[in-house]
Amino acid sequence: MTMPAAKRQILVTSALPYANGSIHLGHLVEYIQTDIWVRFQKLRGHECHYVCADDTHGTPVMLRAQQEGITPEQLIERMHTEHARDFAEFGVAFDNYYTTHSPENRALADTIYTRLRDAGHIARRVIQQAYDPVKQMFLPDRFIKGECPKCGAKDQYGDSCEVCGATYSPTELKNAVSALSGVPPVTKESEHYFFKLGDFEDQLRSYLFPDITDTRHVQSEVANKLDEWFAAGLKDWDISRDAPYFGFEIPDAPGKYFYVWLDAPIGYMASFKNLCTKTKLKFDDFWGKGSKAELYHFIGKDILYFHALFWPAMLSGAGFRLPTAIHAHGFLTVNGQKMSKSRGTFINARSWLNHLPAEYLRYYFAAKLGPRLEDIDLNLDDFAARINSNLVGKYVNIAARSATFIEKQFSGKLAATCHRPELVKTLQSKAEIIAGHYEQREFGEAMREIMALADEANAYVDEMKPWVLAKDANQKDLLHQVCTTNLNLFRLLTIYLNPVLPTLAAEAQKFLNVAAFTWADTGTLLLGHPINSYQHLAARVDPKQVAAMLEETQESLKMTSDATTPPSPPTPLPQGEGSNVEPTKPEISIDDFSKVDLRIAKIVSASLVEGADKLLQLTVDLGEGKTRNIFAGIRSAYDPKTLEGRLTVVVANLAPRKMKFGISEGMVLAAGPGGKDLFILSPDNGAQPGMRVK
Ligand code: MSP
Ligand code: ZN
Repeated sequence: MTMPAAKRQILVTSALPYANGSIHLGHLVEYIQTDIWVRFQKLRGHECHYVCADDTHGTPVMLRAQQEGITPEQLIERMHTEHARDFAEFGVAFDNYYTTHSPENRALADTIYTRLRDAGHIARRVIQQAYDPVKQMFLPDRFIKGECPKCGAKDQYGDSCEVCGATYSPTELKNAVSALSGVPPVTKESEHYFFKLGDFEDQLRSYLFPDITDTRHVQSEVANKLDEWFAAGLKDWDISRDAPYFGFEIPDAPGKYFYVWLDAPIGYMASFKNLCTKTKLKFDDFWGKGSKAELYHFIGKDILYFHALFWPAMLSGAGFRLPTAIHAHGFLTVNGQKMSKSRGTFINARSWLNHLPAEYLRYYFAAKLGPRLEDIDLNLDDFAARINSNLVGKYVNIAARSATFIEKQFSGKLAATCHRPELVKTLQSKAEIIAGHYEQREFGEAMREIMALADEANAYVDEMKPWVLAKDANQKDLLHQVCTTNLNLFRLLTIYLNPVLPTLAAEAQKFLNVAAFTWADTGTLLLGHPINSYQHLAARVDPKQVAAMLEETQESLKMTSDATTPPSPPTPLPQGEGSNVEPTKPEISIDDFSKVDLRIAKIVSASLVEGADKLLQLTVDLGEGKTRNIFAGIRSAYDPKTLEGRLTVVVANLAPRKMKFGISEGMVLAAGPGGKDLFILSPDNGAQPGMRVK
C-alpha cells in the first residue's frame, strides 16, 4: 500500500454563478464535479481550500432589481442566501462562499487595474454604441433586438441569430429596437477602457502551449480551440461600462465602471482573501508570484476565453501567480437535448431537492463525468435504473444483508477475523487505482471500478448465503466471520464512494461506529469492533418522484421569466385598441416553431358550407396532385369564386381534425382584424404548389 505523497497545498475554485438567476442542474455539473475532487483531496490528507462566490455585477442584475422594485444590493443578498442553501443541500461544501460585491474584491480589482494601467496595458478609445434614449443607458448587445442581417429572421438579439447562426454587431441588425423600451436605439459616443491582451501573446503562448506537455495548464482539446483564437488574433478587451451600471467604479474614471467580467475572476482571489481573514491562511502563499501552492479553476466550456486568455494575462500583468490548471467541462443535456424551458427540462436545483435525494444526482453525475469537454447527458430513465441497480441494489444491499445478523446474534460486535481475507485484500488493493481516477477527474472510471468491486462483494454474499447460515446453530462462527467480511467490504466501498456520497458516508460512519473516514483507512480493517444498529441507508427511486419533479419544473417555468436572457420588450399594442388585444401565449422555442410545415397550396375549388356562416370549404393542391380538404373561417372576407386558382400558404402537417361538417386536413394562414378585413397569404407567381415556405 503506497501512501499519498507529501502533503499538497491546493486552492480550488468553481466559476461564480450569476446572481440574477437560480441554480439549475446544469450549474450543478460543475459544482458537484469540483466538490467531489475537493473532497477527494481532503480525504487524501492534503490541505485543500475550495472557494467560490456569487457573480453580482452587471446590467442584468441592475435591471432585474429595478423590475422587482428593490436595490441591486437587496437582490444579490437574497440570491446569495438562496444559492448558498441550494449548494449546501447538494453537499457542495465550499470553504468560503462569498460575493464579488465585497470590499476585498473592490480593493483587488483596483490593484490589478492600476498595475495593468501603470505598465501600459490599458488603452482608451472613443467608441460608438447603441443607446436607449428612453431608458437613458447604453445597451449591451443582448438588449438589442431586430431582424437578422443575413437571413431576415425577426426578433433576433444584437450579437447572433438563433435561426441561421450568423454573428454580427448590433449596428447591422435591421429595424433594431431596444429590448428594454421597444424604441429604436440611437448611436452615441463614449470613451472606453481596453485591456491590451495582445501585449501578452508570447507569454500566453508559452503558458498554454508548453514544450513539455506534462506541464500543460489546459486540456488538449482546449489547446486546439485556443490555437484558433490565436490565429484569429488577440484583440483588445473592452473592460469599462458607462453609468448606470451595477459594479465598481474605475478608480481614475468617474462614471465608468469595470465590466462585470473584469472583477468576476478577481472574485476568486477576493473570496480566498476573505477566507484568510477568518483563518490563519496567508494570501500570498497562494497568489504570490513564487507560490508553491496549486491553483485550479473548474469552469464550463463556455467561459474558456475568459479563463484561458484574459485571466492569466491579467494575473501576469499584475504580478500574481498563474493557475496550475484550468479544468473545463462540457454542458448538461437532459434526455439527450439542450436543457430547455419549452421542453420543461430546465430543472432548478430546488425542484430536484423537493422530490429526489441530492446524492443521487451526485452519483449519477459522477458516473457520467470524465476529464474531457464532452457534454454529459442526464437521462431520467437511465438515472432511476442506475441508482436502483448500482447504488441501492449493489452497494447499500451489502450492508443491509449482514447488519441485522451482527446486531441480533453477536450483540453488535464484529468478529476478530474475516472469513475471506483475499477478497478484502482485493478491494484494498484498488485504493491507488481508484485514487488515480479521482485525481485525473476520471470519475466515471472510478465509479465503474467501485461497482465492479461491489459485484464481487455481492457474488460473495450470494455464495455464502448468510441468511441460510443463520438457520444453522453449528455455523454461528462462520456466520459471524462472513458478516464481518461483508461489512468490511461495505466499509471499503463507502470510503471509495465518500467523495461522491458524503452524507451517505457519514451515516455509514455512524452505523460502523468509526471516526470520519480518510483515504488511508482503506489500509485497515474493522475487526472485533462494536457497531451500531443499521438504519436503511438509501431507498429506490420511484418513477413517480421523477414525474413529480418534472411537473414542478413545468409549473415553475410557467411562473418565472428567463432570468438569463434579457426581458422581452413590451408587446406593442395596435393604436387605439389596447384593451381588445389578447395576451401573448406562452413562448415557444424555435424548435417548436420549426415543426410547423408551411407549404404553398393552390386553391382548386372553394364553396360555401351549408349551415356554417363563417366557413368556406376549400380543396387545395399541395403539388404532385396531392389534394386536401380544408375548412377555413374566411367566408366573411372572400367570395369563394374569387379564390379558385389562387395560391396561398397552408399548415401542411396539422393533424386532421373532425369538424361538424367533415374532416379538415390543414389550415390556411390568414390574418387581420376580422370581418371583411381578413387576408389570406398570397405568394407571388413564382411559387409552386408544394414548395416549402421559409
Ligand atoms: N458568472 C459567470 C462565471 C464567472 S467566473 C469568474 C458565469 N456564470 S453562470 O451562472 O452562467 O455559470 C456558472 C458556471 O456554470 C459556468 O462554469 C458555466 O459553464 C456552468 N454552467 C452553466 N450552465 C451549464 C450547463 N447547462 N451545463 C454545464 N455547466 C453549465 O458563467
Ligand atoms: Zn439569421
